[in-house]
Amino acid sequence: IKNIGVFTSGGDAPGMNAAIRAVVRTALYHDMQVTGIRRGYEGMINGDYEFLHRKSVSNIIQRGGTILKSARSEQFKTAEGRKLAHYQLKKHNVDALVAIGGDGTFTGAKALYEEFGIPVIGLPGTIDNDLTGTDYTIGYDTAINTVINAVDKIRDTAESHDRLFIVEVMGRDSGMIALRTGVASGAESVLIPESKDDLVGLFDRLENGRKDKSSRIVIVAEGEQEGGAFHIGNIVKEKFPHIDTRVSILGHIQRGGKPTCMDRVLASRLGYAAVEALKAGRSGEMIGVIHDEIAYTPLEKAIEKSSEINLNLLKIVEILSL
Ligand code: F6P
Repeated sequence: IKNIGVFTSGGDAPGMNAAIRAVVRTALYHDMQVTGIRRGYEGMINGDYEFLHRKSVSNIIQRGGTILKSARSEQFKTAEGRKLAHYQLKKHNVDALVAIGGDGTFTGAKALYEEFGIPVIGLPGTIDNDLTGTDYTIGYDTAINTVINAVDKIRDTAESHDRLFIVEVMGRDSGMIALRTGVASGAESVLIPESKDDLVGLFDRLENGRKDKSSRIVIVAEGEQEGGAFHIGNIVKEKFPHIDTRVSILGHIQRGGKPTCMDRVLASRLGYAAVEALKAGRSGEMIGVIHDEIAYTPLEKAIEKSSEINLNLLKIVEILSL
């Protein structure tokens, strides 16, 4: 392998830059070239390529977002779009790829590998932490720390006004962000798509639980219910008119900011491992970390929704907030 293409795709995640830096510096160490592909699969199709040098990745390890930019590409989902992407990759002499992103990114990477035989390694870059084959994804730790900082602030005003706040966090159809931030912010309840009767549980607590609480925080994963936190807020307001209820949607603030130390280290380890893996002839796999060891998972398995949500954490939320 002489020239590795690297790109970020799908929702950005803090730590993607640290991963890009690690890919570039490791490849250069092995005398390989690195081509940065901008704007994910869109840029791959449109020929938006640039060589990355040692200096190109200076001073980015601490920066949120992605210097390569990101996009969600509809065109790449078509066979025609993928043919164009392949044409551009060949034109720029890219002979292997490191794809940094989530399930959509890996679905595309798998297609490139299967349809054109291009060696591809995926790195888990998403705040959602919803991939199989890694304990944590790049960006998750930063995002959950952003969430608890925001919820701590909401707690201040909730406490001053004796209010209940329903806070919606990201995670598409995954409750991973909600679950940990619920524990860490001392939430009353956590509502996640993986658990079915948690809304009934919340009603029961509001009905029969302690009445001396001055503030309550309920964390809702965005994928929990059609209509999201506002819908749940309306039900709570209707059923419990005496509780002063407000809704807050944290939104894209969760995707930005400086990566935490944990995310920088994870991204650096994975970026390094991606180049080593390509060099060793591996392909079609996502590299993650399981029990602090580098782990390789076929891309098709990585995109299966992780079923390993720790439901015990839900129980802890309940007991600790009684
Ligand atoms: O996958 C990351 C994520 O932030 C999800 O949690 C969220 O559902 C989605 O991306 C939002 O995507 P967009 O920024 O394209 O609206």
